[in-house]
Amino acid sequence: MKSAVKKFETTVNTVYENGKILVMGEGGLDSPVMLVGEAPGEQETMQKRPFVGKAGKNLDSFLHETGLSRDRLYITNTVKFRPTRVNEKTARVSNRPPSREEIALCLPFLREEMRIVAPKVVVTLGNVALRAVSGNPKATIGTLHGAMMPGAPVELFALYHPASVIYNRSLAETYMEDLRALRRALDQVLD
Ligand code: URA
Repeated sequence: MKSAVKKFETTVNTVYENGKILVMGEGGLDSPVMLVGEAPGEQETMQKRPFVGKAGKNLDSFLHETGLSRDRLYITNTVKFRPTRVNEKTARVSNRPPSREEIALCLPFLREEMRIVAPKVVVTLGNVALRAVSGNPKATIGTLHGAMMPGAPVELFALYHPASVIYNRSLAETYMEDLRALRRALDQVLD
């Protein structure tokens, strides 16, 4: 993994001359489950760890529902740096969805992570990760959530992004059902 990370850092530094603060994946390289999010936010960038901010807190309580603890997981993001926009009036920096170019730049490294960790199941969080891992740019979480994705190149279970539940409370019940379905799916696949 170390040499793959080095190569990826070099690629990113070639594209962005000021460099980027990278938030790399975290967890055992023999983890049976790999969780893939969208991109780090402010807290993640400050601590250089994925899912440690508000979305991470949500994720922890959701994981509880699946019986999975962080120590059996490898957690990563599709894009390894924080995509931001700056409000011209207030100079406030906020998150934005990653661009197609940012995703394309990081995708080879995500594939490399999946090859090295070789998890039994990849759980995608939200549309960006679902499309990146499935290789299907038209896949949508609204129809695929809560189940193993048929025909995907890896064993892929799609979940809504934990942040979307913060912004859309009506998803909470669906999310809980999806987590219970994930637990059942993992029970079948993991020993
Ligand atoms: N949201 C993500 O998708 N990833 C993180 O690491 C944090 C928030």
